[in-house]
Amino acid sequence: MQLELLLPVVNGLTASVFVVDADRQILLINDAGRALFGDELVGVDLVQAIRNPRCLKAIAKVLEGRKKTQTVITLQNPVRTTYQVTVTRLGPRILTGDEDEPRAVISLENISHIFEAEQMRSEFVANVSHELRSPLTALNGFIETLKGAAKDDDLARERFLDIMEQEARRMNRLIGDLLSLSKVEADAHIRPEEQVDLTPLIKQVITVLEPLAKRENVKLRLIIADDIETTVLGDHDQLQQVFVNLVENAIKYGGMGGLITIAISSKDKTAGIRSQALQIDIIDQGAGIKAEHIPRLTERFYRVDKGRSREKGGTGLGLAIVKHILARHRGRLQVTSEINKGSTFTVFLPR
Ligand SMILES: Nc1ncnc2c1ncn2[C@@H]1O[C@H](COP(=O)(O)OP(=O)(O)OP(=O)(O)O)[C@@H](O)[C@H]1O
Ligand SMILES: [Mg+2]
Repeated sequence: MQLELLLPVVNGLTASVFVVDADRQILLINDAGRALFGDELVGVDLVQAIRNPRCLKAIAKVLEGRKKTQTVITLQNPVRTTYQVTVTRLGPRILTGDEDEPRAVISLENISHIFEAEQMRSEFVANVSHELRSPLTALNGFIETLKGAAKDDDLARERFLDIMEQEARRMNRLIGDLLSLSKVEADAHIRPEEQVDLTPLIKQVITVLEPLAKRENVKLRLIIADDIETTVLGDHDQLQQVFVNLVENAIKYGGMGGLITIAISSKDKTAGIRSQALQIDIIDQGAGIKAEHIPRLTERFYRVDKGRSREKGGTGLGLAIVKHILARHRGRLQVTSEINKGSTFTVFLPR
């Protein structure tokens, strides 16, 4: 039986598969392997494709008689990728008919996503612990002071209790945000299917945030383009959360300009019918955001100015939640900003 007869089978696999002879010469390579490592590899030493000592050792062991070896390697070409490598021995008589010529089948499975997920998970846990610990530390400190030094100081008690209340609220908000983030993630693959009209929804968001805007001396203005239908397929509560988070940010961080405009329009059709989406701009005239921060804003716990965000009660989860909700809606967030002019957060939602 010819090795080539294996090709239709191995070409159906997503892993890169090589078959090598006793000298490590490549006899066969599947489509996935060709796509990753190049076309001209049959007949050359495998080391030309995979220059990794651990992988070569795993192959050597199999060629020396071991049935199967496994290892994990990281290759840099074209980008850093982690592979699970499985090497198995191809019995000489099974396929080739050649008597004692040992062959090895090497399969490389991309497991980078598992590695990255694990790294993200541990960073997330570290961040959450840190964020929860800081209000707790403050609470403990004030409790101690109230039991000791400030025991009979009415003024101090009043002030400390205020701060304690704030810190407790912050913890509460953090836990609320964490829960809604995990809920959004859990629903990520379920398509939302309510008909949601964004005009009343955004009007309601404005009503809810009006008191905050007043306190910060900001005017909220809503502009809706003529003749547009503002209904989308969505999850009402989640979309409301998107706009609460964005408008609240605009007030908190961009409010010094005094005016925040929320504009609903429809994205023009130049890029094709499918791109005909609703566009909602939240425009502030605040201090703006430096370009280097913009790509990172939707990361969990990312805050441009930690001190300032904390002082405003922020947890750094708001935009992460926005991003996840929009992903579930097949929508997207775009941020543009100019220092000292203001920022625009744009939401696109497909219709
Ligand atoms: N309109 C804006 N103008 C300037 N900076 C902004 C604006 N919106 C967001 N940011 C920056 O982006 C950071 C991340 O925002 P995000 O909403 O994720 O977190 P937060 O507001 O700090 O906390 P949370 O929303 O969870 O209460 C903010 O801390 C702030 O530094
Ligand atoms: Mg926020």
